[in-house]
Amino acid sequence: MKHILIAGISGAIGHALAEHYLGRDQQLQIIGLCRDPAAVSFDPAVADRVSLVPWDAAYAKDPGETGSEIARVLAADEGLDLVIYAAGFLHGAGIQPEKRLEDLNAEALAHAFAVNATGFAILMRAIAPWLRHRRFKIVAAVSAKVGSIEDNGFGGWYAYRSSKAALNMLVRNLAVELPRKCRPLACVAVHPGTTLSPLSEPFSRSLAQLKVHQPAETAENIASVLEGLTEDSNGQFLSWDGSQIPW
Ligand SMILES: NC(=O)c1ccc[n+]([C@@H]2O[C@H](COP(=O)([O-])OP(=O)(O)OC[C@H]3O[C@@H](n4cnc5c(N)ncnc54)[C@H](OP(=O)(O)O)[C@@H]3O)[C@@H](O)[C@H]2O)c1
Repeated sequence: MKHILIAGISGAIGHALAEHYLGRDQQLQIIGLCRDPAAVSFDPAVADRVSLVPWDAAYAKDPGETGSEIARVLAADEGLDLVIYAAGFLHGAGIQPEKRLEDLNAEALAHAFAVNATGFAILMRAIAPWLRHRRFKIVAAVSAKVGSIEDNGFGGWYAYRSSKAALNMLVRNLAVELPRKCRPLACVAVHPGTTLSPLSEPFSRSLAQLKVHQPAETAENIASVLEGLTEDSNGQFLSWDGSQIPW
């Protein structure tokens, strides 16, 4: 049986990915991490294959605690075949993406880093025991093209851009270290493409010129990129169409 862990299963992309995989493999089991499990639901036909674990990326300081919560629903020797970090923060609770230097705010920067980068790092530390099996496994961090340093010709969105760049660096570091202990494996960053979700909703007017995907389309796109991965893909930053994005 395959086991998939999705952090941010309450989000548009995380939830659509869970539905995608549950619909394609009647055997697989999903471990979903989110702040409020009571607010997440699935079709009754598949719901018994989803185990929801309470987790807040901004307060997940103790990997041992997160590991114990996950161990309640999946023994470490069963292993994880796919880990998707789909939690992310762009705006909320009085925080908006910055247009200029004067908009910078330490709390907003700290919160974006906590959810977009630190949460991933601490989660990876927590779940390392689930990655030691011998089957091919994938760690995919849902990043954003705006986190690409080379691609940044536009500026703005300081907290989001820089925290996604930090997430990307974590992916590169893990791509170096994890194969030593968890081979065979591919650890990648994935840009999902612009997708209709609460995260993108306030920008719908400026998104009008872009192709905006429904979450289900994005889930299919990401799943198809992940399906094509091999050990040689380890350490890549991939877009939803499979093309590579410069770091
Ligand atoms: N939508 C796009 O156009 C787009 C483009 C590029 C990249 N992305 C990336 O795609 C990922 C998914 O975004 P989305 O579009 O699906 O947005 P979304 O529907 O707003 O989902 C965001 C997810 O992040 C979770 N989250 C936020 N703060 C958290 C915290 N403190 N602890 C734990 N979880 C937290 C949310 O949980 P709650 O339900 O508890 O709030 C939710 O599950 C993000 O990393 C985003 O940066 C999206």
